[in-house]
Amino acid sequence: MNTILHLDRNENLYGPAPKCFEVLKNISEEELSVYSRDFARGVKSKLSERLAADFGIPEQQILLSEGSEDMLKQAVHCYLKPGEKILAPKQSWWYYQKVADEVSGITVNYALHEGEAAYSYDVDQIKALCTSHSPRVVLIASPNNPTGNSFPDVSFETLMQSVGDAVVILDEAYWGFNGQTNDHIASLVEKHENLLILRTFSKYFALAGARIGFAAAGKGLNHLAKFASRYLGFNRVSEALALAALDSSAYYHQISENMKADRQKYYELYSRFDGFQCFESDANFVLVKIPAELKSPIQQYLTHNGIAVKFFSEPDFADHMRITLGTVNQNRRLLKLLDEFLSVWKTHGVPA
Ligand SMILES: Cc1ncc(COP(=O)(O)O)c(C=O)c1O
Repeated sequence: MNTILHLDRNENLYGPAPKCFEVLKNISEEELSVYSRDFARGVKSKLSERLAADFGIPEQQILLSEGSEDMLKQAVHCYLKPGEKILAPKQSWWYYQKVADEVSGITVNYALHEGEAAYSYDVDQIKALCTSHSPRVVLIASPNNPTGNSFPDVSFETLMQSVGDAVVILDEAYWGFNGQTNDHIASLVEKHENLLILRTFSKYFALAGARIGFAAAGKGLNHLAKFASRYLGFNRVSEALALAALDSSAYYHQISENMKADRQKYYELYSRFDGFQCFESDANFVLVKIPAELKSPIQQYLTHNGIAVKFFSEPDFADHMRITLGTVNQNRRLLKLLDEFLSVWKTHGVPA
């Protein structure tokens, strides 16, 4: 059994709601032996129907996938042709560029602004790049990984007015950890035909192992809707787990409240030590800029204490660590270790 505490992978370590385990225990032979697709009623499945009802959009505009990685890949493979451009955040998930490379697309990066307290989107820069590059796909991550900042709601319309015919992919994989609601979904996909909003059950709902995600799609994305459809449906067990998770809002709400409180504890810890910057985050992780000389000692110290946090190979984050928020107890354990390490460093320099 691996005893390392993995706070480096942005999983939700609280685990899925108890109702998910009941569903697993009680799933019947009959349920397992039939396809999940709901042929008779002309909808994809109970899950797509439920999501459509929750969001207040037609079922046809909910697309199901094996996690949001899968939907991202399908969307990029559908719309980005060799030599066409995709506009994506520079300080972000490395995988965006990989998927664009798979189809020989050209990635044009826009930079996020590094502020004192938080990173932010520079909407004017994105608009200018849309004008000069006419990208086929524009990617926005909200909250963004690893910086944790969200795209400002108030700027979304301005952005959409400047993207022309581009397909806009709004990756909301880290939705929910800071009290975000679903209120924006219906009006956005109603108004913007080429908008695809990615969601997953991996993060907020703690079902990464079930590989289930979905998207809310604008009406103009028929090509993707056809491409993503599965004649025989999706994984019935994963769908049942997802439905149980949707029925467990109180459980997940409590997790997001705990995360809000624990993020504050990280901000507070780092504010006591010069040379550190812990950026405000809306997600289940925080990004911390650390003095370069401490990178390797912190890494060794945490490894020695059985905790893995994320250090990066990308130059933008050479002197950063990203800490996934675990449970309250796990966070307490790491906060205590960091506090001890940093207190020694403050008085005596790098601990031996
Ligand atoms: C920004 C972002 N989007 C999407 C995903 C994909 O998650 P999943 O495929 O589990 O839904 C990840 C995974 O870490 C991510 O960091």
